[in-house]
Amino acid sequence: MAAPTTDVGTPDSRTYTERRAWLHEYFDRTAAAAWATLTSDSQVSWVRRTVREGRERMRHTLSGFFPDDLTGMRVLDAGCGTGVQAVELARRGANVVAIDLSPTLVGLAETRSAGKFDRGTIEWRSGDMLDPQLGTFDYVVAMDSLIHYRMTDMLDAYAALGARTRVGMAVTFAPWTPLLATVRGVGTLFPRGDRAPAIEPVPMGPLLRGIARDPRLAPWAAQRTHRVESGFYTSQALELCRRDPMGAAS
Ligand SMILES: C[S@@+](CC[C@H](N)C(=O)[O-])C[C@H]1O[C@@H](n2cnc3c(N)ncnc32)[C@H](O)[C@@H]1O
Repeated sequence: MAAPTTDVGTPDSRTYTERRAWLHEYFDRTAAAAWATLTSDSQVSWVRRTVREGRERMRHTLSGFFPDDLTGMRVLDAGCGTGVQAVELARRGANVVAIDLSPTLVGLAETRSAGKFDRGTIEWRSGDMLDPQLGTFDYVVAMDSLIHYRMTDMLDAYAALGARTRVGMAVTFAPWTPLLATVRGVGTLFPRGDRAPAIEPVPMGPLLRGIARDPRLAPWAAQRTHRVESGFYTSQALELCRRDPMGAAS
């Protein structure tokens, strides 16, 4: 089987490592309970209900970028949170590696996933989604897990993931909108002491130009894109396809 040839390691920029440490602390401690509730069926406020609805639409949008039948495909759920997307992909036959910085959320995801899929597999891991030791993949999904990083770090992450991915990636970014620029995202949804790390709003034009101009991303083409807006939730899906897809992962 052909393996991706370009070796792009984990970005080691200071902004990436600082944000990653901050996100680890936030998602593993400060907001773990809030995320557990948001991603469950329990009753939440109207504002959080709009976020939940938006996130559900986004999840469908991203998984719609992949084939219905993922039997035997190796798929990375990069920043899996409480694992809903990983379960959906496994149900479609994928062998999923689901990784998140937060061991607390990964533990919850694993517990919640029990008995929810009877095809595919899920390997639950805590750590950095860009760890080269995770190996190679057919597809990667990163739902709202890169939205706190700067655009240059996002491009580094796309390059690092892309170097290990054979067919397609489905990612999101926080599109620059007047609302997002003002409130800077889900931080407004949580009580003051529970404030989320800032989201980095990214204008679509410069991001797409950044992808097109980045030599590390030359094998990749930006394809479908779709914005989901639901109350306080705004996120933009982006499909990246390898121009010359490689053979399936073994
Ligand atoms: C907004 S939550 C979304 C979780 C999940 N994708 C979902 O949509 O439900 C973002 C998640 O990305 C994770 N994350 C952020 N940076 C990461 C990194 N470098 N490696 C692994 N996980 C990361 C966070 O720990 C957090 O759980």
